[in-house]
Amino acid sequence: MDRERTNQDAMRAAGGGGGRPAPSRTSQSVASLRSQLLRPSSPGGDTTAQVGLCAGMAPTRSLWLRAHLTARTRFVDDEVLRAIEGGTSQIVILGAGYDDRALRFRSPRVHYFELDHPTTQSDKRQRLRRMGADLTHVTLEAADFRSDDVAAVLARSGHRADLPSLFICEGLLVYLDQATILGLLARLRSRAAPGSSLAASLAVHPDGIDTGVVLDRANTARPDASAEPWLTILPAASHLGLITRSGWVPTSCRDDATFGAGAPPGRSLCLVAQPAGAPLAPGRPEH
Ligand SMILES: C[S@@+](CC[C@H](N)C(=O)[O-])C[C@H]1O[C@@H](n2cnc3c(N)ncnc32)[C@H](O)[C@@H]1O
Repeated sequence: MDRERTNQDAMRAAGGGGGRPAPSRTSQSVASLRSQLLRPSSPGGDTTAQVGLCAGMAPTRSLWLRAHLTARTRFVDDEVLRAIEGGTSQIVILGAGYDDRALRFRSPRVHYFELDHPTTQSDKRQRLRRMGADLTHVTLEAADFRSDDVAAVLARSGHRADLPSLFICEGLLVYLDQATILGLLARLRSRAAPGSSLAASLAVHPDGIDTGVVLDRANTARPDASAEPWLTILPAASHLGLITRSGWVPTSCRDDATFGAGAPPGRSLCLVAQPAGAPLAPGRPEH
């Protein structure tokens, strides 16, 4: 596996060779699985949105993913509810794919910004249109995190850098190389007012194992690896170092095995971080 090969180039190849990349298949897989879960919602939220967004999608082949996906869905749903209850008015979902949270957790005064590759965004937009979804509180933006300045994309989409935001990177960072992760998170930090937080899932492996071997083995076992290879799986301390170097201070980091969904330990962390230099939000214990 050539780890420098770009996801978008590979997705273009998976799209049939016509030069137009296909919508993200991994995103469809996780959304299909998520549509089967029992989840909370906001009082005005649409609990049918995930099923609606997944209409006609091919059934997922990645059933091994279910436990990890269940755990991180619980984690992110909790962070969204916590942010809304705490008065955060902007929720920014990076690599949003077919995430339904803008509809499921629709709330007065909360605006959702969703960013993903152009083809996935345009497919999602068509699906939302067919569903007749009210999108007055949602902004979909196309961006490639390898080449686009996400801070500029957010600025022109109406995101306010002077108001707190919850930034969500769920199931995303594993698809980006380390330089892209650093650049993306640093740009998000530049848009993060005090009181903001970052919720991210991190793919990790035990210390003392060669990262290249881990990536090769993991991608060999994945049906979607040729189109959307995993690029960053690191020992926990190295991954947290990447987060810190990009201007975020981890305030909570839990193995997804602790979410009670049956996920095997040591593979995925659920991280909450706050912008470096910002006062800690009240009620968030450090550990
Ligand atoms: C596994 S999916 C997760 C989707 C969503 N976060 C969820 O949990 O339902 C990964 C998403 O990241 C997006 N992605 C990967 N690399 C990207 C890049 N360089 N720029 C923008 N989006 C990217 C993919 O298009 C895909 O939608």
